[in-house]
Amino acid sequence: MAVLLLTACESPKELGVVPYPQYAQTTSKTVELPSTVTFSTNLAKSDMNDLLAYLPDFAIPMKLVNKNPFVTIEITDATDNPIAAEGYNLTVSKQGVNIQASSAAGAFYGLQTLAQLARNGKELPVTTIKDEPRFPYRGLHLDVSRHFFNTDYVKKQIDLVATYKINRLHWHLTDGAGWRLEIPGYPRLTEFAAWRKAANLQDWGKYDHRFCEKNEEGAYGGYYTEADVREVLEYARLRHVTVIPEIEMPGHSGEVLAAYPQLSCTGKPYTSGEVCIGNEETFKFFEDVLDEVIRLFPSRYIHIGGDEASRRHWKTCPKCQKRMKEEGLKDESELQSYMIARIEKYLNDKGREIIGWDEILDGGLAPNATVMSWRGTEGGIAAARMGHYAIMTPTAPLYLDYYQSRDTQNEPLAIGGYNPVDMVYNFNPIPESLTEEQAKFILGTQANIWTEYITTPEHLEYMILPRLAALSEVQWDQVENKSYDRFLDNIGHILAIYDVMGLNYAK
Ligand code: ACM
Ligand code: ZN
Repeated sequence: MAVLLLTACESPKELGVVPYPQYAQTTSKTVELPSTVTFSTNLAKSDMNDLLAYLPDFAIPMKLVNKNPFVTIEITDATDNPIAAEGYNLTVSKQGVNIQASSAAGAFYGLQTLAQLARNGKELPVTTIKDEPRFPYRGLHLDVSRHFFNTDYVKKQIDLVATYKINRLHWHLTDGAGWRLEIPGYPRLTEFAAWRKAANLQDWGKYDHRFCEKNEEGAYGGYYTEADVREVLEYARLRHVTVIPEIEMPGHSGEVLAAYPQLSCTGKPYTSGEVCIGNEETFKFFEDVLDEVIRLFPSRYIHIGGDEASRRHWKTCPKCQKRMKEEGLKDESELQSYMIARIEKYLNDKGREIIGWDEILDGGLAPNATVMSWRGTEGGIAAARMGHYAIMTPTAPLYLDYYQSRDTQNEPLAIGGYNPVDMVYNFNPIPESLTEEQAKFILGTQANIWTEYITTPEHLEYMILPRLAALSEVQWDQVENKSYDRFLDNIGHILAIYDVMGLNYAK
């Protein structure tokens, strides 16, 4: 799906690039785009093949040539003036466009900037840009459990995030409202626990939140096959987006227990959302699932959830209590930490690392875990002080399923909250209470979107746009290079791009 060029003509005095480059000098002079935009590059062969595979979807049709290119894409390891891993230098002059980078990702980001500079599809402002990101982890989360979004739509999301130089898609694949990943040997996850007879979660209440068989009349839901996942991952790879899969445990697992009730403390389905940690079969299940996740996903990070698990059933379950006694665990929080640490070791032994929601701090943090701080920034601060990496995703202001206007009467039904675009823009992921050394453990930041109330792509787009554009400057720009006034001056341009891309957005 090509990101089309803008046809509206605007004065080039505003650069119109989001996230705004760290350094940009622009002029009112312009250079015409040739009717055929030619390019040459010294990218290594495999990177070149990746670029050629991506270019048909790029906003500017480009043709590879040997001589006299209009665009030069140059990979350089210049030591006198080094370019950061994802950074790039871009100049537009009468001679054409020069993009320098030290990696294929940097070159890709130079091209994204070029596409945004070519605002009327005919000309470019004469410009010099030097750019690099503030944070290495720049994410967007997508919940496909509460509502399933198909691969075409996930790919559209990847296109969108790549436009904003966002490099992580956190794919929330499992939760109590539906399991979304096909797992060999566990057919009930996707023949049963991926389907319900109501699209809407409120309506699902009429069915007591029970799942149904895939082939039942009126079954609503879906899941990704191996081929689906591979297609999404390749699409993301070409756009320098790492997809981080999330497999929830030990809570938010009601769908697992609907399919395999023997993994619950009661042995019965629909009695809790938490798996039984006293049962060895629970570990066998998650290890088998994670083996498949490792086989499919190249991401070094695997998200293991860890949020909002009730301790209720563990307190009265003989198996859980026996486990606590044997392992010397003083309470049920430590029981949860026992499970997370054991799963971490399993993944570490296979060369992977875990991210967990900040509740993984509660009963003692697993030795190598990265914390995703969502109940505010405190969890991230605590992790950083302990020398653990953290990613800041506080509900306020980074939950994009929250309202963005006070006029909730005229907004689509949302889960609550109030996170308007200026609050998103003004968020600083590095709290003042951290020392410079501790701050290095804040890998970056991410916005989360949960889909309890979001059933359609149009609604999802409405919730994330234009807040995603604001987020991208939080992730990319140094504090001193942020300007909400500049962002607002540019908003017409940002929205016009959505119009051209056929994206819905909040006005
Ligand atoms: C969460 O919002 N429960 C991570
Ligand atoms: Zn139990």
